[in-house]
Amino acid sequence: MCGIVGAVGATECTPFLLSGLRTLEYRGYDSAGLALLDASGALVRARAKGRVSELERRVAEQGVAGRVGIAHTRWATHGVPAERNAHPHVSRGLAVVHNGIIENYAELKQQLQALGYAFTSDTDTETIAHLVQACLAGGNAFADAPAADLFAAVRCAVAHLEGAYALAVVREEEPGCSEEPCLIVAREGSPLMLGVGEQGHYAASDASALLSVTRRMIYLENGDVGRLTREAIELIDGQGQPVAREVVTSSLSADAVELGDYRHYMQKEIFEQPQALGNTLEMLGGAGRLQPGIFGADAEAIFAEVDAVLILACGTSSYAGMTARYWIEQLANLPCSVEIASEYRYRHSVANPRQLVVVISQSGETADTLAALHHAKAMGHTRTLAICNVPESAIVRETALRFITRAGPEIGVASTKAFTTQLAALFLLTLLLAKANGRLSNESANDGVDDSPEQAFLTELRHLPVAVEKLLALEPEIEAWAQRFAHKQHALFLGRGHHYPIALEGTLKLKEISYIHAEAYPAGELKHGPLALVDAEMPVVVIAPNDELLEKLKANMQEVSARGGQLYVFADGCCGFEQGEGVNLIRLPEHYGLLSPVLHVVALQLLAYHVALVKGTDVDKPRNLAKSVTVE
Ligand code: F6R
Repeated sequence: MCGIVGAVGATECTPFLLSGLRTLEYRGYDSAGLALLDASGALVRARAKGRVSELERRVAEQGVAGRVGIAHTRWATHGVPAERNAHPHVSRGLAVVHNGIIENYAELKQQLQALGYAFTSDTDTETIAHLVQACLAGGNAFADAPAADLFAAVRCAVAHLEGAYALAVVREEEPGCSEEPCLIVAREGSPLMLGVGEQGHYAASDASALLSVTRRMIYLENGDVGRLTREAIELIDGQGQPVAREVVTSSLSADAVELGDYRHYMQKEIFEQPQALGNTLEMLGGAGRLQPGIFGADAEAIFAEVDAVLILACGTSSYAGMTARYWIEQLANLPCSVEIASEYRYRHSVANPRQLVVVISQSGETADTLAALHHAKAMGHTRTLAICNVPESAIVRETALRFITRAGPEIGVASTKAFTTQLAALFLLTLLLAKANGRLSNESANDGVDDSPEQAFLTELRHLPVAVEKLLALEPEIEAWAQRFAHKQHALFLGRGHHYPIALEGTLKLKEISYIHAEAYPAGELKHGPLALVDAEMPVVVIAPNDELLEKLKANMQEVSARGGQLYVFADGCCGFEQGEGVNLIRLPEHYGLLSPVLHVVALQLLAYHVALVKGTDVDKPRNLAKSVTVE
């Protein structure tokens, strides 16, 4: 979604702003822009619909340069993608970039228009620019007296905003900064962090955009407003009090966001899964026993008290939750429900305070998941756990327990390595809940060989990166299927048991990046309706692990074959399948028991990736989608 970069420093900052925007391109956007104070202190602005490269061309043409500036990539919410709606938005010599949504913007706009402010865009952001200006002017409904300087004006303005925002504001000839130019920032609901550099200070909505200048970062809290000059950072918290926030050193490496030899980030991230899983499972070390402490200091006590689990998430993360539901009920014997966060937050549900509420999110900033967590807490849930890939994210800061997956930055919009590492984390959670519920024997065998179920599951987990590595070797076979899918309009995916959510995830990947309409069904549902869709034109992808439901699944496959449907079967070895008329077969190296979903999903990721390649779509930035959905 939208991205912010800002800088105030000793050197010309346009190259940093543009490279920061390029780093944020992966989040999805439709237009870009920047505003700078030039050598004379005047505000200059360049904006463009489309890619950052188009903005770069305009910046070069206009010769825009300066030592203080703000830049933005916009993902349309209010108003179509167009240059006039691109940020920064200006009001008489000040410029604003904004992530988030201002819920009361229509009402504010009316009031500001009545004061004589003319609007040139359809955005909610332009309201903020005029509102800050109105606070500087004073003598109106927003401010009795003129604000002393831009810092005070932004503090005055945010007091009138309802909704979510991360803001960066610059103003020409700012009175409070007569010695030095400054950049004002504010945060409520949308992420914003500051960079502490050698040559100046920086702001961004995503840490990766700061890595080219500094690793030393300050994560703003909700309600914070800050003034950045080249020499200093001054922060005021939501109560209007001066506050110092910790400077942390980011462990992100700049290489982690480089494409390297890969063609796409999605391809890189699919192939990084053995490493990502290995890193996520690293804390297990060689221990024969799982320690609840990996979920937080209070985990042991909390796990011992819970009598049910509620999982809240969106999209791919919700499919990880759905997979875990099968594990948790089977191994831990705890009732588990999974809810789409955007539904849960508005539903009248019945709270069970002894439930463990698990929020799953790659980014930790998904607006619906965060709101669902707030809703759960407001309903009295205190036993909360975040499974997240971004340690500094909002979701992680708001739960009692947390587990940070170590997938590394995920740049491709279609989630891959985040999903499989979420599954690994959820399997660990399952084992710990099972243990707390007395369902895993801790007894070692008398001969000194530890063959307890816990030990056996840990061994399987530790072997998982190797198993995924072997699966990746199937890429050429999967690639060969892609040609046949690329010309299809629709596809069906079938799975049973804990592979049904994997079928759902497979269809989501295909839809997102190849734009082929795909639907997933638990295979037993086929004859209750979707069988009507099956004909020779309908590819039917079947996830066929060698488990207790295999014979049932084979019967479902017969139903497809009998109607001329084309089967594309991912089977484990020794499943008794034969390739033949209407049956295409790829054999996975091994059956992986309860962890089999982790392997089968990688095969489906590769299928979606190669179909998209044949179709020539923009794999890493599929149309209409954004990486982190920070608005509702
Ligand atoms: C699909 C995908 C999305 C996300 C969803 C939640 O490939 O990436 O469906 O899973 O937007 O995002 P997070 O996990 O960041 O909360």
